[in-house]
Amino acid sequence: MLDASFLKNLRTIEARYPDRRSAILPALYLLQERDGYITPEGMQALAVHFDISPMAVHEVGSFYTMLNFRPVGRHHIQVCRTLPCKLRGSDQVTSCIANKLGISVGDVTPDGTFSLLTVECLGSCDTAPMMQVNDLYYENLTRARIDAVLDELKDEDASYTKRPGPDGF
Ligand code: FES
Repeated sequence: MLDASFLKNLRTIEARYPDRRSAILPALYLLQERDGYITPEGMQALAVHFDISPMAVHEVGSFYTMLNFRPVGRHHIQVCRTLPCKLRGSDQVTSCIANKLGISVGDVTPDGTFSLLTVECLGSCDTAPMMQVNDLYYENLTRARIDAVLDELKDEDASYTKRPGPDGF
């Protein structure tokens, strides 16, 4: 489960801390980068590695919304729901995205392309309302901007699936 290359990266991270258990959080992030989300098997493997219970690993990670303990879409959308964004229309942003994608908050589209969550302040309050899609921020959102961003992401996916493989197919 924790293969040689994963362990090599993990040991590099652990070396930065006086107590290697302080590396649990970045270890969870590494796991998510590798598997798309933190699987129960991955959590179990980290628990064995750090010699703690799987529940203790979960307790560390579940505090942070950037760690996902269930599958998310290729484009994971997180809309800020904290007061400054709320006052500038984050509820409408969330509804607009949910309607456009045909899903509710917490869901993934059936094709696995998008997932939607609402989260606490993402630290970009002066550009409210805003959302994060994977690692990118989209700010000063309006209905037109949301439409444009979602269409752009869908197009990216379409061009990706059409891209020829190594044999030209
Ligand atoms: S309140 Fe939305 S980014 Fe801070």
